Amino acid sequence: TPDRSLSGRHVLVTAGPTVEPLDPVRFLSNHSSGRQGYAIAAALAKRGATVTLVSGPVSIPVPEGVHRIPVQTAREMLAACEAALPVDAAICTAAVSDWRAKDIAPGKIKKNGDGPPTLELVENPDILATLCRSSQRPRLVVGFAAETDDVLQNAQAKRLRKGCDWLVANDVRHGVFGAMRNTVSLIDDHGLQSWPEMDKTDVAEQLVERIVAFFANPLSQ
Ligand code: C5P
Repeated sequence: TPDRSLSGRHVLVTAGPTVEPLDPVRFLSNHSSGRQGYAIAAALAKRGATVTLVSGPVSIPVPEGVHRIPVQTAREMLAACEAALPVDAAICTAAVSDWRAKDIAPGKIKKNGDGPPTLELVENPDILATLCRSSQRPRLVVGFAAETDDVLQNAQAKRLRKGCDWLVANDVRHGVFGAMRNTVSLIDDHGLQSWPEMDKTDVAEQLVERIVAFFANPLSQ
């Protein structure tokens, strides 16, 4: 019989990039494929969880049993996440654009002979940190961190700064965007566990195993 040990649990997952318009035809974004987040959403749904997947634009199908809420910008992603609360757990895999244009030009920005335009950027909200500080904070909040150097030190500091329970750090020096495989370390209150390189679907299964164990016995974590 299938393991439905997360039935009755509601889990929020963020995935994919955000897209920040500059004008009606241009935008700021990044190379996130959404693969790792979608694999986690699928693995959670397989265990019987109610899964809300708040996703930027990606080209992968919605996993079976998952409720997807499509968004474009970081502010839309935050609003969709806050509207999904309360949830038991939040897994933030989205590659949220750190910045957006201060003003979105109403018409296409023209080449007018005065040289390139100056783009004024403003900071986007941090969705993970906002969920961690929420009065409806999920019992378990998991962040992801793509790092290119001092992976572990940076990830440890990031876990504390954001206020999440677990932080999954991945070393993106060797290209992980759009790839099928991933090499990650999981950092919690007790320290760090490095996992061998594996398929993103297996990273998802391993993480969901830990989530099952957390909800079976939160004090043991
Ligand atoms: O600070 P950094 O972007 O490296 O942190 C990565 C983690 O924070 C990921 O879990 C990502 O989904 C989350 N994040 C977020 N909102 C932002 C920036 C990052 O939720 N604006």
